[in-house]
Amino acid sequence: MASDFYGEILAPSGAYKYFINGDWKESASGKSVAIVNPSTRQTAYNVQACTQAEVNEMFEISRSSQKQWAQTPLWKRAELLKKAATLLREHALPIASCLVTEIAKPSRDSMTEVIRSADLLDYTAEEGVRVLGQGKILNSDSFPGNGRNKLCLVSKVALGVVLAIPPFNYPVNLAVSKIGPALMAGNVVVLKPPTQGVVAGLHMAQCFHKAGFPKGVLNVITGKGSEIGDFLTTHPSVNCISFTGGDTGISISKKAGMVPLQMELGGKDVCIVCEDANLDLAAKHIVKGGFSYSGQRCTAVKLVLVHDKVADELVSKIVPQVQKLSVGMPENDCDITPVISETSANFIQGLVLDAKEKGAKFLTEFKREGNLLWPTLLDHVTPAMRLAWEEPFGPVLPIVRVQTVEQAIEHCNKNNIALQGCVFTQDINRAIMISDAMETGTVQINAAPARGPDHFPFQGFRDSGIGSQGITNSLEMMVKTKSTVINLEAESYAMG
Ligand code: G3H
Repeated sequence: MASDFYGEILAPSGAYKYFINGDWKESASGKSVAIVNPSTRQTAYNVQACTQAEVNEMFEISRSSQKQWAQTPLWKRAELLKKAATLLREHALPIASCLVTEIAKPSRDSMTEVIRSADLLDYTAEEGVRVLGQGKILNSDSFPGNGRNKLCLVSKVALGVVLAIPPFNYPVNLAVSKIGPALMAGNVVVLKPPTQGVVAGLHMAQCFHKAGFPKGVLNVITGKGSEIGDFLTTHPSVNCISFTGGDTGISISKKAGMVPLQMELGGKDVCIVCEDANLDLAAKHIVKGGFSYSGQRCTAVKLVLVHDKVADELVSKIVPQVQKLSVGMPENDCDITPVISETSANFIQGLVLDAKEKGAKFLTEFKREGNLLWPTLLDHVTPAMRLAWEEPFGPVLPIVRVQTVEQAIEHCNKNNIALQGCVFTQDINRAIMISDAMETGTVQINAAPARGPDHFPFQGFRDSGIGSQGITNSLEMMVKTKSTVINLEAESYAMG
């Protein structure tokens, strides 16, 4: 069944096709982009290197498909999303195996990503029929000088063409979290998958295709960022950009023009551990939060700020758990797997060496084989070290010892990529005060940072993002307000 389902997406050349107007096609460029397996550092797949002319064609098709799609009843859009969710579940295994190969995500987490995406679509369908079906009526006599002769009908209408750009670490889930709300709200989508993760993205798109979405409603372009990246994000046909990734998002925002933006650009998520914290709980969450998917999550714990009085005890609880993490290949479902690329591994190594030179204490040894980095825990990190401020996006966790909670909050608030943070204390009043003082998009009390459940609002402060995500917020963000004012005839109104 799987090969029939996916047969049409692979060209005879062995390169994956791109998806336009309900068809899988090869690019006229005749060129492809190689997708490297981070574990073997060998080419695993090839995808089409699409041209700017193909981008233009895609936007033209998208624009003309959108009018009809916006007229499709909400219940019908919901039905199609649910069908896509069912197909994602049925085809979770082949999609997950692409994730294992392309982004070295452990096999169990890869399956979880696909199933979570199906759940997200189901919820979007149900939330969408309710949220988008509601408008409001305003009566003019609330405003001074007006009578009751004007009624304003406020409704929500689609934006048009949504450009969706997900990141390598969740190429399926963070694609679906953009596509689902966009389609539900009557928009059409041009998806540009990340280079690593693109093949999983193409497999996912086939589930939407087979679910029966009309032609041109979802299109997927692949290619080199240098060739089509800026061309896509500055294209005049784009009515909204939903982007998750690194600081490329800042330059996208600067160039984007008059379109609504939904951006999530990472986080230096701090974990504040107070002297009254449950240290067993804190240690468990720090290890899971810091090292799952080898720290390559925007919500990973990226810095521990622990009160000096309990630092030794906390460290003694963290170290054995880190030492127990299995290190190896994603196919074997190891905890720590190769990071996404050699460039990334080099960057992480640079941060570790900087900390070493400046006197950090290594609680576990830093080791590297190719893109595989052993989980590294560093104590006595100081603000002079890059690791105190920069996101490694790898299995490296720095610990800073503080004398007061105020000092921890001050460090947190100096950080510019303020996505999430967390605080461990057994005093709920204190927790709320600390949360209030932490300038981050979300504060988790007594748990590690996390985006889910996927209907919770999700946003970053300062350079970490623009707008808020989560299913309901995305549905609200991907529509614009439309007013229709009924002006009643004064005479008939008087008679009434
Ligand atoms: O990497 C960014 C993701 O939004 C993090 O999602 O908290 O579910 O791992 P997660």
